[in-house]
Amino acid sequence: MSEIAEIIVDGKSYQLPIVVGTEDEKAIDISSLRSETSHITLDPGYKNTGATTSAITFLDGEKGILRYRGYPIEQLAEKSSFLEVSYLLIYGSLPTAEQLNDFSDRIRRHTLVNEDMRKILDGFPATAHPMGILSALVSSLTAFYPESLNSNQTQDEMDLSVIRLMAKMPTIAAWSYKNSIGHPVIYPKNKLDYASNFLNMMFAYPTESYEVDPVVVDALNKLLILHADHEQNCSTSTVRLVGSAHASLYSSVSAGIGALWGPLHGGANQAVIEMLEQIKADGGDSKKFIEKAKDKNDSFRLMGFGHRVYKNFDPRAKIIKKSADDVLTALGVKDPILNIAKELEEAALNDPYFVERKLYPNVDFYSGIIYRALGIPTNMFTVMFALGRLPGWIAQWKEMRENKEPIGRPRQVYVGETERDYVAVENR
Ligand code: SDX
Repeated sequence: MSEIAEIIVDGKSYQLPIVVGTEDEKAIDISSLRSETSHITLDPGYKNTGATTSAITFLDGEKGILRYRGYPIEQLAEKSSFLEVSYLLIYGSLPTAEQLNDFSDRIRRHTLVNEDMRKILDGFPATAHPMGILSALVSSLTAFYPESLNSNQTQDEMDLSVIRLMAKMPTIAAWSYKNSIGHPVIYPKNKLDYASNFLNMMFAYPTESYEVDPVVVDALNKLLILHADHEQNCSTSTVRLVGSAHASLYSSVSAGIGALWGPLHGGANQAVIEMLEQIKADGGDSKKFIEKAKDKNDSFRLMGFGHRVYKNFDPRAKIIKKSADDVLTALGVKDPILNIAKELEEAALNDPYFVERKLYPNVDFYSGIIYRALGIPTNMFTVMFALGRLPGWIAQWKEMRENKEPIGRPRQVYVGETERDYVAVENR
């Protein structure tokens, strides 16, 4: 197999090297294209463009494969914990028992945030969306830890920034929720594990403690694992691009939170529940909304359906769908929108419009149903996605910096006005 691609531009032949990955993915390396041919490529949305090589996550959209550092997502979701998967993504291998204990203990010791952060939080109105608060407070960590701004951090300094972010994001997330309901914040309890600590900060009150349900903890661990990384998605590419300018980890992740908030990306899990509620309120006629989703003149989309990469099933959606049944049964929750979701999936998967376009349920289609059963409010769903994706963002940022990748700066094709002279306002 030739490891060279040949292109012909203006009648002249150019040879470009082909890069082959460990899973036999192939890419044409166009690093020299502009200098050799004075042409660039054009690919809005980067649908055919690789931004980097990476050793963190492999996914195959046609076969529905997803692996973190080579481990199948199905095995990790079933057998691992979120902190163990976080360690795997960030440091590249499954931790020994001692490494995992040390990682967990270090995170436990950094769960508190500076008390001044409460003054920033108090400045937000109760109507503020928790994602906006999360992005702002994560960025404000640069104010409390100015050493994180040093773009030549030692490995230990970078590691401390990683531990602080893993530790403090759940605290900030839970506090943003308490702010949205006008309730006092709950401080972290270091005797609790990562998921339990977050749940306690979300649902405990100064007036009464919160009993952590092991079913809820297990479901939350599984959901966080399933969201932990997904190669070069929109928000991860944002984190890498901002980090490529040697911006701090905190400001890079803050930017990633902003990208994830979009309803076409992580914001879809909130939009799915709002859509299901809309269908329920409208009488529950799934077929009517399937037709709306197919109508080009109707802006309605089937949220939680379709994916840029998965042109078959999203392996995460399969696991979450089964978990939704298990969790609702275990908690004795009967949620009518789960049946509406299943009817919608059934109708779409038998409709030529969706089949032709390979539109299947994605990670966001069923996750909101579980979050709701766990008592998490709809406007916190994308915050949950961000909590899960945090180790992936960190791992990808770290890989980009350790590989000393250049600052990201795409080119463009200019299609505006050609040169023209200024005309004084009285002559326009
Ligand atoms: C995530 O990249 C990642 O890895 C993301 C993610 C991660 O883990 O980081 O997996 C998380 O973001 C999942 C996606 C969540 N978003 C949604 O559920 C929103 C609804 N889905 C879409 O808007 C859409 O499917 C995207 C944004 C997910 C993908 O869009 P693409 O790849 O740009 O595809 P497209 O918009 O060009 O759609 C192709 C065709 C179009 O029709 P035609 O022009 O060919 O006639 O499919 C149609 C679209 O109109 N289409 C849909 C649809 N999604 C695509 N029609 C109805 N309902 C939908 N949901």
